[in-house]
Amino acid sequence: MKALILAGGTGSRLRPLTHTLAKQLVPVANKPILHFVMEQIAGSGIREIGVIISPETGPQIKQSLGSGRQWGVEITYLLQDRPAGLAHAVQTARPFLQNQPFLMFLGDNLVQGGVEEVVREFQREKPDALILLKEVPDPTAFGVAVIDANHRVKQLIEKPKDPPSSLALVGVYLFSPEIHQAIEKISPSWRGELEITDAIQKLIEGQKNIAARKLKGWWLDTGKKDDILEANRVVLDEYAALSNEGTLDEKSKIYGRVQVGAGTQIIESTLRGPVVIGVNCRIGNSFVGPFTAIGDNTVLEQVRIEHSVILENCLLQSVPGLEDSLLGSHARVVKGKSGHSPLKLFLGDHGEVIL
Ligand code: G1P
Repeated sequence: MKALILAGGTGSRLRPLTHTLAKQLVPVANKPILHFVMEQIAGSGIREIGVIISPETGPQIKQSLGSGRQWGVEITYLLQDRPAGLAHAVQTARPFLQNQPFLMFLGDNLVQGGVEEVVREFQREKPDALILLKEVPDPTAFGVAVIDANHRVKQLIEKPKDPPSSLALVGVYLFSPEIHQAIEKISPSWRGELEITDAIQKLIEGQKNIAARKLKGWWLDTGKKDDILEANRVVLDEYAALSNEGTLDEKSKIYGRVQVGAGTQIIESTLRGPVVIGVNCRIGNSFVGPFTAIGDNTVLEQVRIEHSVILENCLLQSVPGLEDSLLGSHARVVKGKSGHSPLKLFLGDHGEVIL
């Protein structure tokens, strides 16, 4: 069995951050989302992974994942020349997939507990497709499923205005080679994309065996700013550990699970976990509150911050209250004449705010 990761697309819902950064490489708890995806796939025992990349962000993705050796897997990069949909990505990957069953994983999705169990179930039961579903408050942004009392999938619709259920299609799918014939039968949707949802609907219409599982744990689709902050919160809550490889002066205090990278100096500051701080940062006269991730080489001076994601090489000075914020790399927030608090910011790489 192979796996196919979709790491193309334009990331339009995460602009301006994604003008310069692939959306799958946005970090959550200081680790790119795509690296969590790699861990989860490697954890399911699959060793051959195809990664769909776009001409725009492909080089970054390649640089970040390399050969896959770090996860004990072998990566084949597959260039999708335009963002023409998930089913188009599968078509693009056909020479790699051949006639093998495969796990398809959207590179900006995360599921609690990984995919080992569903992969095993798929291999045991051998349905034509297995989809994962999750109850969500607003299903209009997703593919939506109607299932019967026996968990059989009756219908799938992509982003319906008037959703027939609250069950969203999670971006993790298991397919037999039957999916390729189904893709041949579909045409582009209203958004001009070949939708994988429409292809699975064709399988349903052809009386194929489609299994569905409702996810019990969390599912994070990191397409937008608030999704990133929520993913950061959930992942820090679950995985942050207490570890300090930096230096802490006598006046500083650490409460709860706080991870500090090598070469980072904490001076006259309070850190209240769960928090993760990268390497070679300087945190001076500051308070870093729960659910904050700070990237490498970032400097904070006289800052109060919580529930935020700050990428690497940022400078924050005299910011009295920052929360729910996502700052791209090299962002600068420095004091001007007057200050207001609290601030809510969403900045792209090299963004600057003078207060
Ligand atoms: C895609 C799928 C949708 C699915 C979602 C999960 O949407 O088309 O059915 O629910 O991923 O993340 P997109 O991200 O392309 O809008």
